[in-house]
Amino acid sequence: MQNTEYTPDWPLSGPAVLSTWSFGRVANAAAWETLCKGGSPLDAAVAGASAVEDDPRVDSVGVGGLPDASGRVSLDACVMENPDRCGGVCYVRSYASAARLARRVMEDTIHVLLAGDGAEAFAKASGFVPHAEDLLTGESRDAYARWKAERAAAGGRAAGAKMGVLPPMNVEERYAQAGGEGSPEPSHDTVCVLVRNPQVSGHQLAGVCTTSGLGFKIPGRVGDSPIIGHGLYVDQTAGAATATGNGELIMGVCGSFLAVELMRQGRTPAEAVGEVLRRVASRYAIQPEHQVAMIALRADGAWASGSLRPGFSHCLTTGPSLTAEPAHSALAPAGFVLLPGTA
Ligand code: GLY
Repeated sequence: MQNTEYTPDWPLSGPAVLSTWSFGRVANAAAWETLCKGGSPLDAAVAGASAVEDDPRVDSVGVGGLPDASGRVSLDACVMENPDRCGGVCYVRSYASAARLARRVMEDTIHVLLAGDGAEAFAKASGFVPHAEDLLTGESRDAYARWKAERAAAGGRAAGAKMGVLPPMNVEERYAQAGGEGSPEPSHDTVCVLVRNPQVSGHQLAGVCTTSGLGFKIPGRVGDSPIIGHGLYVDQTAGAATATGNGELIMGVCGSFLAVELMRQGRTPAEAVGEVLRRVASRYAIQPEHQVAMIALRADGAWASGSLRPGFSHCLTTGPSLTAEPAHSALAPAGFVLLPGTA
C-alpha cells in the first residue's frame, strides 16, 4: 500500500545516528564520536543516550529528570540489537546510568528486564556508583515544589476522573525553548537513539530508549520505554524503531514491534510509522495533551520520523564514511504529522 500523504523515505548509504527531540543533538554528537573511534552501533547508541542521561539540563532523562508524585525520580531504559540481544531496567531510583545498566542486564544476565530494588542491587553488584542526590537537581526539586503548590491550590481530583498526571503536549521542547539552559515547565519523556553502520561485520543496527517517564507520575508507574517491543524494537533482518510520547498509548499497540514488523512485510519506514500512529489515533480517545512520535531505520538504511501532532523533532547525523568526510548533523521537524495540533 502506498501512503502518498507521507514524505518519501530517505535512503542512507553510510553510517547514521537518528535520535528524538532537540536534545538528540547531545546524543548524536556522543554517538558519532564513538562510531569514529571504532565503537559498534550499540556502543554508539549507549554513549549517545548516556550523554543525555548525564546532562542535568535535560529534565526528561537521567539526572535532573522530573520526580514522581512522591518527589522521587525513577528511570526506565532498554537497549536492543536483535531479539536475542536485548535488556532493560525500570523503576531505578538511585543510579543515573539507566542505559548502561540496561546493557549490562543484556550482556551479563540470562534475563531481559530487572525492576526496582532488584535492578539497583544488580547495579551495585556490577560496580555502578549510586547518585548522591537521588537523581534530583535544584531545578527538579523546585519544579516539584511548584507542582505540589499548584496541585494543592487546584483542589482535589474531579469526581470520576482517573488518577495520574498528563503533561502538556511536546513539553520536551521547553528545554530547547529555554535555550538549553534548563526547562521551566513540567516535562516528561525520552531520548531514543538508533544507530546503523553498514561498514561493520557484526550487528549493524542498535537502539537505546531511556527516560524518567512522565513528570509527577503515580509512584511505581512504568511506561513503554524499558519494555522491548513497546519503546524500542530492533531486528537486524528488518530494521529498528523507537517511540516517544505518552507511553500508555504506545504500549496499547506494541508500537515499536509493530513498526518493525510492518517494515519486514515490505512497508517503507514512513508507511510503517504512519500505520502505528494511525492505530494509536484510532484506538484511543486522544486528549489535547497527547503526543506520540516515532523514528524508524530500516535494515537497508531507509529511515523516517513521524508524530501524531506537530512539535516533534528528530536529529540525524550522517556521513558517507566515518573518516573521509565530516559528519553532517541536522535537527528537523517530524517527517510527517498525522493530526493537527491543538490550540
Ligand atoms: N514515553 C515515555 C513514558 O511514557 O514514560
